[in-house]
Amino acid sequence: MPAIVIVGAQWGDEGKGKATDQLGSRVDHVVKFNGGNNAGHTVVIGEEKYALHLLPSGILTPGVVPVIGNGVVVDLSVLFDEIDALEARGVDTSRLVLSANAHLIAPYNRVLDKVGERFLGSRRIGTTGRGIGPTYADKMNRVGIRVQDLFDEKILLQKVESALELKNQMLTKVYNRRAVEPGEILDELLPFADRVRPMVADTSLLLEEALDAGSTVLLEAGQATLLDVDHGTYPFVTSSSATSGGACTGSGIPPTRIDRVAAIIKAYTTRVGEGPFPTELHDAAGEHLRQTGSEFGTTTGRPRRCGWFDAVIGRYATRVNGVTDFVLTKLDVLTGLDTVPVCVAYEVDGERMDEMPMTQTDFHHAVPIYEHLPGWDEDITGARTIEDLPGNARAYVSRLEEMIGRPISVVGVGPDRDASVVVRDLL
Ligand code: IMP
Repeated sequence: MPAIVIVGAQWGDEGKGKATDQLGSRVDHVVKFNGGNNAGHTVVIGEEKYALHLLPSGILTPGVVPVIGNGVVVDLSVLFDEIDALEARGVDTSRLVLSANAHLIAPYNRVLDKVGERFLGSRRIGTTGRGIGPTYADKMNRVGIRVQDLFDEKILLQKVESALELKNQMLTKVYNRRAVEPGEILDELLPFADRVRPMVADTSLLLEEALDAGSTVLLEAGQATLLDVDHGTYPFVTSSSATSGGACTGSGIPPTRIDRVAAIIKAYTTRVGEGPFPTELHDAAGEHLRQTGSEFGTTTGRPRRCGWFDAVIGRYATRVNGVTDFVLTKLDVLTGLDTVPVCVAYEVDGERMDEMPMTQTDFHHAVPIYEHLPGWDEDITGARTIEDLPGNARAYVSRLEEMIGRPISVVGVGPDRDASVVVRDLL
């Protein structure tokens, strides 16, 4: 029975939420394996629009068990705010399971994220300011606080004290902030313990048992390939593993149990925050994509940087994730253009590069080489089969497919839940 991983192929916001949601009723478990409330999924169901930051999008599907894996960093106040908001709208969240090994975003890490960015000035990363980076840094530094620590007050106090030893020096001496008392942190975290307890489990074991019993498990990445801490445009990345390998380390499911890897890729490119972006448009065409595609951040409301489709990145995503299928999203946003430029390779210091440059310096200097594909004017939002698409839209899809090297199995043609052309089933 399948375990399927869903990743973003570009810099995030490709529309993973909708893809996950469409598979929703046919899967048994939806696992979030990395990131935290820096993510933002928008799912539209009928008239209702749901913006989720921390909860896996499977939470909206009756019968699905949503799992927050060990690779996630959890801000408990955000978790319960999201749960309460969904419950108030009649969504049952009682099946949610949370890994005992997931790390908690402590309040001091939210502060350190924000002041750290300010301190970096022009070298800032453009983080979401939610404490994600400092919390992963604590995890790797072995001074992190985990969900299970909530159930042992003595251990929790010891861990908070040892984390604060260095942080208070930083806060007071480098950032000119007041020191934090360990007691304040316990006062904020401990009241959650009783509410958290019933949802905590050994999620690795739970998922193995589920797979053994024939369940379908969907592992949903936060962020995306080029924001991955190892394979992304470092240092302009998030602090977790957002590629398919992260699905294993962040959930406890071994690589030998993964059957398929679906990558979500937008018909053009967007990015939020700082960092290189070869096909970025600073002109009216970029503004057109932003307005037509409603490219404003779900988490921070920031306008997204927009540019044309980049096939070099698509091929790279295929390689580092072992993609088996692509889901092409927001094709309808390109309707009405005379021609649609697609970046097929880069020129770097006079040399053509067909693959992702090895060094950051070369990537910063990459100038896109474009192929101009003919556009289409027909409204495609009602298309449900590939034959419903006008010839030029179909040609656009097949040209991208050739360039990124794997089949495009689903094409998104509008924001509604059912606005997709399914060429090949993902499950
Ligand atoms: P952080 O994840 O808050 O540390 O931010 C690091 C970088 O990742 C910044 O450029 C963010 O804008 C970007 N980022 C984090 N989460 C998302 C997401 O869900 N979509 C797009 N970009 C994201």
